[in-house]
Amino acid sequence: MSFKAIFALVTLAVATYAAPSRLVSCGADRVVSNAACCKWFDVLDDLQANLFDGGECGEETHESLRLTFHDAIGFSPQLFREGKFGGGGADGSIMAFAQIETNFHANIGVDEIVETQRPFALKHEVSFGDFIQFAGAVGVSNCAGGPRLEFLAGRSNISQPSPDLLVPEPSDATDTIFARMGDAGFTPNEIVDLLISHTVAAQDHVDPTIPGTPFDSTPSKFDAQLCVGTLFPGNGSNVGEELSPLGGEFRLQSDAEIARDPRTACEWQSFITDHASMVSKFEKVMSKLAVLGHNPADLIDCSEVIPVPAAVKIAAVTLPAGKSRADVQAACAATPFPRLSAAPGPATTVAPVPPS
Ligand code: HEM
Ligand SMILES: *[C@@H]1O[C@H](CO)[C@@H](O)[C@H](O)[C@H]1NC(C)=O
Ligand SMILES: *[C@@H]1O[C@H](CO)[C@@H](O)[C@H](O)[C@H]1NC(C)=O
Repeated sequence: MSFKAIFALVTLAVATYAAPSRLVSCGADRVVSNAACCKWFDVLDDLQANLFDGGECGEETHESLRLTFHDAIGFSPQLFREGKFGGGGADGSIMAFAQIETNFHANIGVDEIVETQRPFALKHEVSFGDFIQFAGAVGVSNCAGGPRLEFLAGRSNISQPSPDLLVPEPSDATDTIFARMGDAGFTPNEIVDLLISHTVAAQDHVDPTIPGTPFDSTPSKFDAQLCVGTLFPGNGSNVGEELSPLGGEFRLQSDAEIARDPRTACEWQSFITDHASMVSKFEKVMSKLAVLGHNPADLIDCSEVIPVPAAVKIAAVTLPAGKSRADVQAACAATPFPRLSAAPGPATTVAPVPPS
């Protein structure tokens, strides 16, 4: 036997030994590494057809993504240290105790998606905690060029209501938001990474007169966020709102301040010209959010069930039409603001997100 042949045998043996996980067929051409994941394909098919309108990155996707946060962030090691119950994190308590938690001020509007999702969770007999994170991951997989989030299954269905005041408000001081998010385990830069979610977000309740108004951190337009605000898109100034640079776009006070804070401005600015980094950092930080209150080693990795988002060709990044470098409030001391030209044509107004 030649030396080459022995080497080949050894590599084969090592490969077999190192890969004990066999693939399990879930029917059709769907395979997973753990049979417990198969049932999530049924949930996937049902959600895509009947919750996400055939696989759209629309209003239900946005609301489902927001819900992953509002369930998970109900988790405070600080409260536990004070001898109080600090919440169970991503435990489904926002659905199990909706009558309590959806009445918290910061949860305004989430009752709708909680009630829309609940029958799906009950029908498929999965825990509320698993379901909320799964729906968020499936939802954003419908956003072209977006992230493919990890999904771990196996959260208990037993929970207690989260204490109030753990979900940040857009009118909270940045220090307050950093402290609250820090308590839950997130660094300031990781808060920016989480706020990438607001690239597919619109508001309904900060200014109820203009429902569906997208945030000015819309896809590839973290730069719009950094433009000087000039107008209110709706009925004047509301609590938690700042002047926006474009008609039809909404600027949250918390987003505006975090984008300009010396502790976080460089992370924010870095995403303007780096879509790939934006996507990978969001995937990473969402893995952390989704298991707050859990030991991930106790959960089963069913990420294979999450669809791969469609790729997009990333267009050249521009400033919004009608804006120039003079309109930009660059706040990162370490790195110059990237050279961007303005999109051609006159200043535009952004259309609202249609309700579905
Ligand atoms: C500093 C932390 C945060 C604050 C203060 C905040 C605040 C808000 C507010 C006020 C709205 C508008 C709600 C409405 O009027 O209907 C909103 C929407 C949204 N938020 Fe956040 N948010 C924060 C972090 C997050 C995180 C971490 C996520 C997800 C990972 C998230 C995802 C969303 C999404 C997807 C929407 C849009 C919902 C829709 O279009 O229906 N937010 N957020
Ligand atoms: C989860 O708990 C809720 C009550 O909060 C219950 O209605 C539901 O049937 C439970 N689901 C499972 C899978 O045990
Ligand atoms: C708009 O705001 C004004 C006060 O600034 C208030 O009196 C009015 O009722 C608001 N309109 C609507 C439709 O909410």
